[in-house]
Amino acid sequence: MGAGRRPLNETMPMVERFFNTSGPVVAEDHYCIPPLGRLDLDEILRLIDGKRYFVLHAPRQTGKTSALLALRDLLNGRGAHRCVYTNVETGQTARGDVAAGIRTVLAEISERALVALGDGFLDETWERTLDRAGPHGALRQALGRWSLNDPRPLVLLLDEIDTLVGDTLISVLRQLRAGYDMRPAGFPQSVILCGVRDVRDYRIHSASAGGIVTGGSAFNIKAASLRLGDFDEADVRALLGQHTAETWQQFTEAALAAVWDQSQGQPWLVNALAYEACFRNKANRDRSRTIDGEAVMDAREGLVLGRQTHLHQLADKLDEERVRRVIEPVLSGDAAGRASPDDVEYVRDLGLLARSGTARIANPIYREVIPRELMYAREAEIALETEW
Ligand SMILES: Nc1ncnc2c1ncn2[C@@H]1O[C@H](COP(=O)(O)OP(=O)(O)O)[C@@H](O)[C@H]1O
Ligand SMILES: [Mg+2]
Repeated sequence: MGAGRRPLNETMPMVERFFNTSGPVVAEDHYCIPPLGRLDLDEILRLIDGKRYFVLHAPRQTGKTSALLALRDLLNGRGAHRCVYTNVETGQTARGDVAAGIRTVLAEISERALVALGDGFLDETWERTLDRAGPHGALRQALGRWSLNDPRPLVLLLDEIDTLVGDTLISVLRQLRAGYDMRPAGFPQSVILCGVRDVRDYRIHSASAGGIVTGGSAFNIKAASLRLGDFDEADVRALLGQHTAETWQQFTEAALAAVWDQSQGQPWLVNALAYEACFRNKANRDRSRTIDGEAVMDAREGLVLGRQTHLHQLADKLDEERVRRVIEPVLSGDAAGRASPDDVEYVRDLGLLARSGTARIANPIYREVIPRELMYAREAEIALETEW
């Protein structure tokens, strides 16, 4: 069989899969590296069995949500636990309004429990619990009653925890801590907090306390902090290899090497480069065409000029003084200049700097995007000053 002809094979999926660049991966629809394989699953199961509360963190679009959803399905499939995944991002707009924030978080968990487990207990009771206990106790009480309602221990996955701000975030952390001693019968056996940074490093502005509360003090029950890494080169080749296996479209060695070089394994970048090269580029949709190194570099150019959301969100971070203090000297070849180790750690957590070693921009694509964005920001500032 020649290149470009799809082999007839009964195990082939029904729909054509593609490289996903928006949201968590679904194996049926997207080429993907098995998400559970990206986690230290032994360690995670050990922590869950040990009734621990812990953190999973990584920069945006690394595969955290994909991994959490797979973990939830694994646990529920085994049947020994009840596991509910919730994204608490909707509580962000409540800002420091604890009543509104806790209300949103409770509604969100209840909805997820209903949909994922068919468990309507919270859905039927949370509003009454909120009336009775008030926002500062309702989350603890609702999780407590819900745990007691079923003998299977509860595992709660709270995604995007660091999108919550101010007193709302403090209240969520403190209510989890307040129920901790009642687990596993009367409170979730295990809670995973997922976000960009380790909870320990949160500096939370509390209007009620009139100052800064650190995550470490509000949530001092944390047992461990795991960081999800990027793809290694073998993962990148395996992901691209899925496209070749399913469509027979070939990549040259130079193309495979370029995807790795340019992305350094950042999962979204890998998918975005491959999507540009194989799907957005009309000519290359002809699967008999081999994708070469030049096609990958064209794809890279398309990404950079397209100012895609992922790159845009990174660029937004450049508005923070703390980030610029680290990035500017790195760009001018001065390692991290005089930035504090805390600031450098912060910028590593955001994914802008390589995860370890001397301070350097994480990959060649960011290295091109960041100075451009800094320039746009400067021009905007100058324009504003001139207007004044
Ligand atoms: N297991 C995986 N296999 C292939 N690509 C992945 C995988 N996990 C994540 N990605 C890539 O990362 C992007 C973001 O995934 P997501 O799980 O939403 O990450 P996060 O929650 O860290 O932001 C996906 O759109 C996809 O491009
Ligand atoms: Mg996510």
